[in-house]
Amino acid sequence: MAGGTFATQGSDPRHAADGTITRSVVIICIVAASAGLIFGYDVGISGGVTAMPPFLEKFFPSIPKKMAQAKPNQYCLFDSQSLTAFTSSLYISGLVSSLIAGRVTTTTGRRGILIIGGIIFLIGTILGVAAVNLPMLLLGRLLLGFGVGFTNQAAPIYVTEMAPPKWRGAFTTAFQSFLSGGALLATIINWFGSKMGENGWRFSLGCAGIPALIMTVGAFFIPDTPSSLIQRGQLQKARQSLNQVRGVESDTEAELNDLISHHEAAKAATKQPYKTIIQRKYRPHLVITTAIPTFQQLTGINIVAFYAPVLFRSIGLSVDGSLVGAIILNFINFSSTFVSAYSVDRFGRRLLFLEGGVQMILCQFVLAYIFSAELGTAGTANFSKGSAILVLVLMCIISAGFGWSWGPLTWIVPSEILPLEVRPAGQGICIASNFLMTFILSQAFLSILCKMKYGVFLFYAGWVLIMTAFMGLFMPETKGIRLEEMDKIWQGHWFWYRFVEDPSLNYANMIDGNQNHNQPGHSL
Ligand code: BGC
Repeated sequence: MAGGTFATQGSDPRHAADGTITRSVVIICIVAASAGLIFGYDVGISGGVTAMPPFLEKFFPSIPKKMAQAKPNQYCLFDSQSLTAFTSSLYISGLVSSLIAGRVTTTTGRRGILIIGGIIFLIGTILGVAAVNLPMLLLGRLLLGFGVGFTNQAAPIYVTEMAPPKWRGAFTTAFQSFLSGGALLATIINWFGSKMGENGWRFSLGCAGIPALIMTVGAFFIPDTPSSLIQRGQLQKARQSLNQVRGVESDTEAELNDLISHHEAAKAATKQPYKTIIQRKYRPHLVITTAIPTFQQLTGINIVAFYAPVLFRSIGLSVDGSLVGAIILNFINFSSTFVSAYSVDRFGRRLLFLEGGVQMILCQFVLAYIFSAELGTAGTANFSKGSAILVLVLMCIISAGFGWSWGPLTWIVPSEILPLEVRPAGQGICIASNFLMTFILSQAFLSILCKMKYGVFLFYAGWVLIMTAFMGLFMPETKGIRLEEMDKIWQGHWFWYRFVEDPSLNYANMIDGNQNHNQPGHSL
């Protein structure tokens, strides 16, 4: 038995491994989830770096000039396409690479993707640190994105496939915890960077290399997932990997057999993953897998993540104050992922989606009111201190709501609802949709703010309303259901039953009284 057993639950011997958490599985998942760290670091770093005067003077000299004007329009202060390109270029290359990763993972395995992504990311970091002009800076950022597209495609499915089913949600939440931990780290590093004068921004960009190095080296020492190994015909290695993570040999044979038969059934479809996923029977998976990551960005979280320091400066805080504000925000975001890890396998995914949504909508309405009262539409007035603090508090509440709902659930739900044959492709589409939306919004946000003024908060509140209703109607609960049995959630759903095969289990039959009680019931 590899790895010490922390706890054992479950009386059915066949599924005894469902609740067992071994030391090995914890360590292995930590390495994989640390892919979140490097992504989060990049999310968090750009906001602070773009608030540093030496960085702006070197690469974006028009902005310091605008700031020096007597009465600048606060809404439009940072409205510069090249500045936003610095932030958003990462997402455009990540979008492309996540789709590529969805295809090549069939030959390289999940672990191989993590390693390739880590190496590309390290090269991007070096270019960024050494940048002497804007093209070099942007090229470095594009490479970071390319690396992150790979690691984000692989890490959540890696963790989902390795985790004990009973605690799958909590384990996969680790990806978001690392992600927001990375963003928190980045804001703290930025604070130090801002004190270092001329080259502080190089220090900030360079520190991204540390977690990337740890993840890349760590990935050489972890096994690939049993599913991925079976897919590539490496049965013996799959058995070893499963024994290592589950720790109970007698049980792993049953799980291994399950995985093998599941793989056999999925084999034919795996050859053309992107073609397969557009078939009608995968419609629920495709829609949910695209909608969740797209909606996640429409919560407006990246106003907070990227532009908090900029926004805080717009409402009159000093460079220092705005960086400290960003640290507080990221700390709240990070802490709230632990609330999610605790609740997600106990109360389910749906409850968190709905509660988080309502919390964000309410705060966004109040933010719109405060901005309209303080800045109006001219945007030339100054924020009072009390209002600036209130803005920070409301943003913290949004951050917390996001941190225990849409943040982690975006990584958990798609990776668990996708059947094996379309899992890598689906996860590729998930990351690509997330990056596409992040790109569009981060590229557009500063000019949306400049044009819509305080209405920008209403814009996001409207979207959160739509997505919360969508989840209420179309997202069945996945808590505690084994990956191999996940198809049943659609058969019991009021809308999706008509797309999935097995007509004997459809909703119409269920309401006729033929409900099979071994299946999850109709779950709206
Ligand atoms: C999102 C990022 C966001 C971050 C904030 C992630 O799940 O994909 O775009 O910046 O959460 O914590």
